[in-house]
Amino acid sequence: MLKLSKVNVHYSEIEALKSISLEVNQGEIVSLIGANGAGKSTTLMTISGIIKPTKGQIEFEGKTIDSLSPESIVKMGLLHVPEGRRIFPRLSVKENLLLGAYLRRDHIEDELDRVYGIFPILKERSNQSGVTLSGGEQQMLAIGRALMGKPKLLLLDEPSLGLAPIFVKKIFEVIQEINKEGVTVLLVEQNAHLALQVSHRGYILETGRVVHHDESQRLISNEKVKEAYLG
Ligand SMILES: Nc1ncnc2c1ncn2[C@@H]1O[C@H](COP(=O)(O)OP(=O)(O)OP(=O)(O)O)[C@@H](O)[C@H]1O
Ligand SMILES: [Mg+2]
Repeated sequence: MLKLSKVNVHYSEIEALKSISLEVNQGEIVSLIGANGAGKSTTLMTISGIIKPTKGQIEFEGKTIDSLSPESIVKMGLLHVPEGRRIFPRLSVKENLLLGAYLRRDHIEDELDRVYGIFPILKERSNQSGVTLSGGEQQMLAIGRALMGKPKLLLLDEPSLGLAPIFVKKIFEVIQEINKEGVTVLLVEQNAHLALQVSHRGYILETGRVVHHDESQRLISNEKVKEAYLG
C-alpha cells in the first residue's frame, strides 16, 4: 500500500534520512521505533508531503506521491496525526472534528457518530473548546479528527506521549479497533514495547537509517532489540 524506496531527506546540510526503504501492506499495523532524533517524525512528514525528499521515491497505492502537495495526499486517504496533537484551542471539540472532514462532503454526520462511538468522551465534551480537554482527551480528539477524513492509511506520531497509563491503554486499544475496521496504520512510538505488541511488523531507525525490520513478535524476542529498545 505504501512503499518508500531509498528516500533521503536533508534539513539544509543535515542528512536526516539516509536511504530509507520501508513498506506498509494494506491491513497492517507497522511500528517505527527509534531513539530521539532518529528520524521518525521526519519519515512521517515526508510521507505526508510536508517535507520533500532529496532522493528516492514514495508510492501510495501504486501512485508516486513524493511530488504531490500535502492536500492531494490527504485526498488520497493518507492522513497524519502529528506529534503534539495540534488541535485548535478556540474551536469546540465538534468543530475540531468537523475540520477533519473539510476535504469531504459526504456522510459527515455518520462519520461523526462513528467517532463519538469510539470516543464517547468527545461526545460529552462536544461543545467545549478544545483547550479545556485533558492531554489524553486532546490526543483522542486529534485521532478522531483524522478519522473524520476517512483514512485508508493513518500515520500516528507518538500518540501515547505524555499520557497517563489509563489513556495509553485506551489509545492502543483504539488503534487496534480502527485497524480491525480496515484502517492501515503506521505507528511511531517511544513506547516500543506496546507498539510491538499491537503491530504486525516493525522497523528500527537509528540516526536516519533502517537498521532492522521484522515481524513484531520476532523483534520482541531479538536480544539486541531487547537490550537497546525494550529495557
Ligand atoms: N526543521 C529542522 N531543521 C534542522 N534539523 C531538523 C529539523 N527537524 C528535525 N531535525 C533533525 O533531524 C533529525 C531527525 O529528527 P526527527 O524529529 O525526525 O526525530 P524523531 O525520531 O522524531 O525524534 P523524537 O523521538 O525526539 O521525536 C534530528 O537530528 C533533528 O535534530
Ligand atoms: Mg518525533
